Amino acid sequence: MRTILIGPPGAGKGTQAKIICEKYGIPQISTGDMLREHKRNKTPLGLEAAKAMDAGLLVPDAVVIGMVEERLKAPDAQQGFLFDGFPRTVPQAESLEASLKRLELKLDGVVLIDNVPDDLIVERICGRRTDKTTGQIYHIKYNPPPLGADLDHRADDKEETVRKRLTEYHAQTAALIPFYESRGLLRRVHGVGEMSAITEQMLAALQAK
Ligand code: AP5
Repeated sequence: MRTILIGPPGAGKGTQAKIICEKYGIPQISTGDMLREHKRNKTPLGLEAAKAMDAGLLVPDAVVIGMVEERLKAPDAQQGFLFDGFPRTVPQAESLEASLKRLELKLDGVVLIDNVPDDLIVERICGRRTDKTTGQIYHIKYNPPPLGADLDHRADDKEETVRKRLTEYHAQTAALIPFYESRGLLRRVHGVGEMSAITEQMLAALQAK
């Protein structure tokens, strides 16, 4: 399975990606997680990315594309992968297309988590907490963490920054919808409702040809 999840911030990409990757035994390639790790380790790439991330802006294409090309060479990505949060611009999508062509690999499909209103996104993101050890994603209202869990609240999960991330999504990432539609790869799932019902829709979308 080679697939991509797209959708606005807070649509539920990370939540659903973990379930799908476990089911298919493929790695979740989250450029957000990779960039946050670089940031934590204060690598040159992390220091460059930090300014954009903290401001709710996209990290420059060249930085992200180089990082993903390296990741695609890893042994665990040879049998399949799920991209979560990549590509996010048309140049990133074109670069991925060229890389996959070089490697003679094909995408099975691109799933768009759609129809989540901006105000619900803000509520979801501001209430998100992530377990520092396991990476498990919780929500203080919709999926409360267990008592005593060691939780992280992301630096870019403040309302003002979330609104900027949404503006970036509408201005740059939404262009991927016609891009993948024109290639016959796009499948849409409705992103509001029980998490398990959305998982069902996603699994059906991934099996559809
Ligand atoms: P990234 O980490 O990719 O963040 P994002 O796309 O903004 O997405 P999120 O992680 O915020 O949300 P999600 O859709 O995964 O939702 P989740 O499942 O957690 O990127 C961060 C930054 O890195 C970017 O702003 C940019 O600067 C940079 N970056 C990353 N990739 C880049 C790229 N390719 N190019 C350039 N820059 C890049 O769910 C959210 C919350 O909602 C959780 O609390 C969850 O429990 C809850 N929830 C989920 N589903 C439901 C549901 N059905 N009902 C109720 N609650 C739900």
